[in-house]
Amino acid sequence: IVLLPGDGIGPEVVAQGERVLAAVAARFGHEFEFDTRTIGGRAIDESGEPLPANTLEACRESQAILLGAVGGPQWDDPSAETRPEQGLLQLRKELELFANLRPITAHSQLVDASPLKREIVEGVDILFVRELTGGIYFGDSGRRDGAGGEAAYSEMVYQVAEVERVVRLAGEAARQRDGRLTSVDKANVLEVSRLWRQVAERVVREEFSDLEYEVVLVDAMAMHLISRPRDFDVVVTGNMFGDILTDEGSMLPGSLGLLPSASIGGWSGAGLYEPIHGSAPDLAGQDVANPLATVLAAAMLLRYSLALDEEAAAVETAVNEVLDLGHRTADIAVGGPSVGTEAMGDLVVKQIG
Ligand code: NAD
Ligand code: IPM
Ligand code: MN
Repeated sequence: IVLLPGDGIGPEVVAQGERVLAAVAARFGHEFEFDTRTIGGRAIDESGEPLPANTLEACRESQAILLGAVGGPQWDDPSAETRPEQGLLQLRKELELFANLRPITAHSQLVDASPLKREIVEGVDILFVRELTGGIYFGDSGRRDGAGGEAAYSEMVYQVAEVERVVRLAGEAARQRDGRLTSVDKANVLEVSRLWRQVAERVVREEFSDLEYEVVLVDAMAMHLISRPRDFDVVVTGNMFGDILTDEGSMLPGSLGLLPSASIGGWSGAGLYEPIHGSAPDLAGQDVANPLATVLAAAMLLRYSLALDEEAAAVETAVNEVLDLGHRTADIAVGGPSVGTEAMGDLVVKQIG
């Protein structure tokens, strides 16, 4: 297991993820080998590159990767030659991790942590499948002269095969869940979305006619997601739409600090597991960040990359029990008492036993 702590709160939350994995190893009699490497801003400072060759090599040879977050204000100069975020994008691309699974589950004990009403949030259980290695993140981009002076462009491109494989993966997931699949696009405006919609509809018609299938435009989806979130089961969408909708979706459970993700699909079989949140520079170094998104990402790692279902469930159960006991980090404490990052890690570790 390669650990990529990264920047900001990344090292603080990955430390708790590592402790939880070590607790699982002790309880179930496994031996995990951890290998910590640099990525992002810290890697730029140390070696000039956001994804050093030895980091990529270690990831290629690993069974699974647990990442914190990359980026921060000290690397945000728009004219800088290289950026921390490029390291993460390159890693996803190099390992061909084309599907990013982002479950959004409203924990019943936390309903009051959500800014939304209880009757909207209760029972929410959505799986976002975000395409991760294509679209506007990876199209041609640059600067050019425009009629009115300097201009910039970022191309959004999808190939048929890229849409087919992610829709297929989402369809399989829907079959294992509640049998409902929603595809989100902007086909009323964008040619790239019209291709996405045609391909998605064909794949569903030919291979997933057993599913209940619906298409929603992304602007409307931003609204439906917080007005009728229980109507959605599996939602498949492109790279940028998925990025934006899932940060919005984090307000259903109540905090970005609760949402894990798994990036899968690559040739090597290794998966990349990370919280969906960023490096939270406003919280870094203060032992206040919520580590549960990373802990739950470690559970996804156990399930998807190591096929350790019972162990994954044990982590998820431990998190639920800690919440049942009333422990909260500041982001979900709603003004009540709170524990720090490490103390929350202690509680989960203790519960795993
Ligand atoms: P962010 O996700 O870091 O923070 C957004 C808000 O959520 C902040 O108020 C933050 O305090 C809060 N938050 C985030 N994680 C939390 C946690 N675990 N517990 C409690 N509160 C939490 O997004 P941002 O501020 O827009 O971006 C900061 C940096 O992170 C940028 O450089 C961005 O590029 C980077 N980023 C990286 C990743 C990644 O590595 N996967 C993801 C998103 C953003
Ligand atoms: C995420 C982040 C990344 C993304 C950035 C840091 C490249 O926001 O993982 O959600 O946009 O994919
Ligand atoms: Mn994001």
